[in-house]
Amino acid sequence: MIETNLKNALGLWAGGDQEGALLLCQQVMREHPNVEQVALTYSGLLLHREDFEQAAAVLDDFQNQYSASPALLANLSIALRGLKQFERAAKLAERVTIEAPQLVSGWNSLGLCLIELDQPERATQVFQTGLQHHPESPALSHHLHQLSKSPPKDKLSEALASPIVGLLKSAQTLSDEGNPVAAEAMIRKAIHFNPDSSYSHRALGCFLLRHARITEGIEALEKAHTLDPSCPTTQHFLQLARGEIPNKPSSEYVERLFDDYAERFDEHLVGQLDYQVPRMLVELLASIETSQNLGEVLDLGCGTGLMGDALKDQVSHIDGVDLSQKMLDLAKRRNIYRSLVRQDIEAYLHHTDQRWNAMVCTDVLIYVGDLRLVIDQIAKRLTPKGWLGFSVESTHTYPYTADPASGRYQHHTEYLHELLSKDFGTPVTEEVHLRKNIGLPVRGTLVVAQKKSV
Ligand SMILES: C[S@@+](CC[C@H](N)C(=O)[O-])C[C@H]1O[C@@H](n2cnc3c(N)ncnc32)[C@H](O)[C@@H]1O
Repeated sequence: MIETNLKNALGLWAGGDQEGALLLCQQVMREHPNVEQVALTYSGLLLHREDFEQAAAVLDDFQNQYSASPALLANLSIALRGLKQFERAAKLAERVTIEAPQLVSGWNSLGLCLIELDQPERATQVFQTGLQHHPESPALSHHLHQLSKSPPKDKLSEALASPIVGLLKSAQTLSDEGNPVAAEAMIRKAIHFNPDSSYSHRALGCFLLRHARITEGIEALEKAHTLDPSCPTTQHFLQLARGEIPNKPSSEYVERLFDDYAERFDEHLVGQLDYQVPRMLVELLASIETSQNLGEVLDLGCGTGLMGDALKDQVSHIDGVDLSQKMLDLAKRRNIYRSLVRQDIEAYLHHTDQRWNAMVCTDVLIYVGDLRLVIDQIAKRLTPKGWLGFSVESTHTYPYTADPASGRYQHHTEYLHELLSKDFGTPVTEEVHLRKNIGLPVRGTLVVAQKKSV
C-alpha cells in the first residue's frame, strides 16, 4: 500500500501535478511517520522543487525520532546546503562518506560545502577520494577539474555550473521533441545538481513560461535574478512575465541571445523551423518594384546574412548592421556585404550620414517594441522613393505586445500603417507564416513601403 501510494505520487509528479504529488506524500507521511522510504521520497520531491526549508524540516523530524540511514542524511545535507547552512551540511555529508562511501551524493555534497567554506584543498581531497570509490562519476571529476583550474572564489559557483549545461541541452532536445515532462525533470535535475546556478533557474523559468505556467515561471526567474541580478535575459523574461512591456529589450539581452544562437542559427531557423521570410520578402518586393536592381541596400539586423544572400543579385551594394558580433562574423563569410557594423540599428541610423536606396529588416523588429524612432530614422536615411521591406509578428493588441513565452514582440497592422503614413506611401502588406514555433506556424506580416518623393 505504501509503495503503491509512493508510486502514484511519483506518477503525479511526472505528469506535472506537483501539488497533487506532494499532498499524497504528506498524507502517507502522516499515516506512516516511521517509514524512511516515505520521508526519502517526500524530501526528494521537495528538493527537486528547491523547497529546501520544507525538505530539511521533514528530514530533521524523521532523524530526531527514528534512526536515519546515510541516504536520508545525504538528502538532509543537500537541503541544508540549499539553505546555506554549510557547516552542518558538511558534517552530515562527512558522516555519509564514512558510513556509506558507496553514496556518491555524500562525496559531492561534502566537496561542494567545503568549497563554500573556503577550503578548496580539503574539497580537492574529498573529490579525489570520492573518485576512488566512483571512478565514473561525471560530477566528481568535473568538480575536481574545476578546482584544479582554481578560479577565483566568486566565479566558482558559475564554473561549477558547466556540467548542468549538458543536462539543460538534453532538456532543450526533449522539449523540442515534444516531451515537456521529461524536459522539466531534466532541468530540475540540473538545479538539484547545483542549486546555486542562476543559469538552471533561468532555464526553468523560461521553460515554465513557454508552458503558460506564469506564476511558477516568475518564481523561478526571481530565484535566478537573486543569484545573478545582472543577467539581461532573466531581467527581460521576468519583466514580460510580470506584464511589464518595455519599449525595447536591452541591447545586452539581444546581443547575448544571438551570440549564443549564432552557430546553429541557419540550420535551426531554416532547416528545422522552416524560416522562409527572406525569400518571401524578395518575391513581394519583386512583385511591386519591377526594376532589376534596387541599388545600395542596407540590411538592418542582418544576422548571418540570410536576407543579404536572398537579395544579392538585385543590389549594387549591400551593407549590414547587427548587435551580435558572432552573427556578423558568419555574415562576413558570405562575402556579399560591402560593410558590416556592430551596432544597434537605431543608433547606427541616427549617427550615419549615408543614404540608401532600399532597406530590409527581416525578423528583427520582433526585438523592438516601440517602432516610432526606428521608422523615423529609416525614413531619414532612405533616398526619395526608396524602398523599405520588413517583417513583424502579428497581434490583435494595439499598438504592440510581447509574449513571455518567446520573449518577442508582436505589432498591430494599424500601428504600422500609422507610423509609415508620415513619410511613406500606402504600404503593401501580406499575411504569412514566418516560421514554426513548437511545431506550430507563427503568424506574421510582410510589409513593403516606398518613401514619398519629398
Ligand atoms: C532572427 S535574426 C534575423 C537575421 C536576418 N535578418 C534574417 O532574416 O535571417 C535577428 C537579428 O537581429 C539582430 N537585432 C535584433 N535587434 C537589434 C537591434 N536593435 N539592433 C541591431 N540588431 C538587432 C539580432 O542580433 C539578430 O542577428
